[in-house]
Amino acid sequence: MDNQENEKVVITVMHNGPYVVEGGFTLKDKDGKDSEQKSKVFLCRCGHSHHKPFCDGTHVKIHFDDTADNDVQK
Ligand code: FES
Repeated sequence: MDNQENEKVVITVMHNGPYVVEGGFTLKDKDGKDSEQKSKVFLCRCGHSHHKPFCDGTHVKIHFDDTADNDVQK
């Protein structure tokens, strides 16, 4: 286990924006391969990024509202 893996990971939900993940973590791609070894990433929460899983700022253009009731499973 290296130093980065010992760091505490903090995930912050941004108001009307992405998840901010900070700390020691490894982001794996859909095939389980390590794709990112960073200390901070912004992950899309609105579902409209053109660079998923990362936020590309599209949430601003679409006026993403995290208070809207978008749950269709009710
Ligand atoms: S949260 Fe930023 S593009 Fe989706």
